[in-house]
Amino acid sequence: MPAVVFENPRKTLNVLPGTNLRKAALKSGVALYKPFFRVFHLNLDIGPIQFPCGCDIVEIEGKGTNARSEEEEKIVSGRFFTKRKVAPNLRLACQVNVTGDITVRTHPKLEVDAVETKRQRGFLAVVFIFLLLMALIVAVIGLDLVQKI
Ligand code: FES
Repeated sequence: MPAVVFENPRKTLNVLPGTNLRKAALKSGVALYKPFFRVFHLNLDIGPIQFPCGCDIVEIEGKGTNARSEEEEKIVSGRFFTKRKVAPNLRLACQVNVTGDITVRTHPKLEVDAVETKRQRGFLAVVFIFLLLMALIVAVIGLDLVQKI
């Protein structure tokens, strides 16, 4: 049976091959989430709708896991306001199936990618301004129509 060693808190689990890392961690009392996300994390997986929250990022040493998907990599790199540098061993615990011995570090230090973050925020600012202008135009047209009635 594969061994999963958690570094913080130090704990070793022997799991069946194919076991989901998140489920194994939560079952054994390892805190994957920071306090805020412990309450508000959202991991939707309803048929075609999949929206992992990105709150259970862990650092894994060892080759005993399934491969990281592109979607998982995008989520680890940050979706909205902040982009992070993604080391190859950063994973979402809920997406990891254990196939061999691994060492897991919860709450790893994540490095912000300043260039990508700036580009992302610039894009979001343009989208926000565009939507604001559209709302203003609709409001002006609406007010004009109300005056004519
Ligand atoms: S539980 Fe939210 S991303 Fe894994």
